[in-house]
Amino acid sequence: MSDDRRLFKGFRDRLGGFYDLWLKPPKMHKDILLVDGWLTIDEGMALHDLASRSEHPIVEIGSWMGRSTIFLAKGSAKGEGQPIHAIDTFNGSSEHQNILRGGTTYHMFVQNLRRGNVHDQVIVHRGSSNDVVDEIEGPIGLLFIDGSHEYEQVLRDFQNYAPKVADGGIMARLSHLGRCLPGGR
Ligand SMILES: C[S@@+](CC[C@H](N)C(=O)[O-])C[C@H]1O[C@@H](n2cnc3c(N)ncnc32)[C@H](O)[C@@H]1O
Repeated sequence: MSDDRRLFKGFRDRLGGFYDLWLKPPKMHKDILLVDGWLTIDEGMALHDLASRSEHPIVEIGSWMGRSTIFLAKGSAKGEGQPIHAIDTFNGSSEHQNILRGGTTYHMFVQNLRRGNVHDQVIVHRGSSNDVVDEIEGPIGLLFIDGSHEYEQVLRDFQNYAPKVADGGIMARLSHLGRCLPGGR
C-alpha cells in the first residue's frame, strides 16, 4: 500500500461512520438529501427505523418537499408497508414566507415522491392540520409532528392527533429551532 493510500486509510478510520454517512453516503441517503429540507441523515434514519416497526398507518404533519416523507415511506416498506398520511398546506410556515413568497411546495413534493418511487404509499391531505384532522381515522402507529413550530400550533397538533395514536404507538417531534437557539425545544 502506498504512503498516500495508508495516510488516507488512517484518516478515514479516524472519521469512522462519519466518513461513510457524510462523505460517501449510501445511494438512498444521497437521493433523499437531494430533496430540499432540514432533516439530517441521522434524523431521517431514526424515522426510517420507527416507520419500519409501525403496525398502524403513519401520520406526518409538515412534509415541505418530501424529505422526511420519503424516509418514512422507505422505512415503512421495509416493515408492514403501512400507508403514510402526509398533511401539509404546502404554503410553508411563517419562517418560510421569505423563501416561498406566496408560492407552494406542492408540485415539488409530488415530483420528489415520484422520483423516490414512494408516491403509491403516500396519501396526501392538503390543508391545515387543524382542518383535516377528521380525515385521519386512527389508530396511528407513528405520529411525526414537524408542521408549524409556533408553540400554540404545536400544542394543537398534539391535542388533535395524540388521542388517535394506538396503544404502544409512537409520537415524534422535530424542532429545528432547538439546533440554533439556546433553550429551543
Ligand atoms: C419544517 S417544514 C417540514 C419539513 C419536512 N418534515 C422535512 O423534514 O422535509 C414545515 C411544514 O409544515 C407546514 N405547515 C405549517 N403549519 C401547518 C399547519 N398548521 N398545517 C399543515 N401544514 C403546516 C409548512 O407548509 C411546511 O411545509
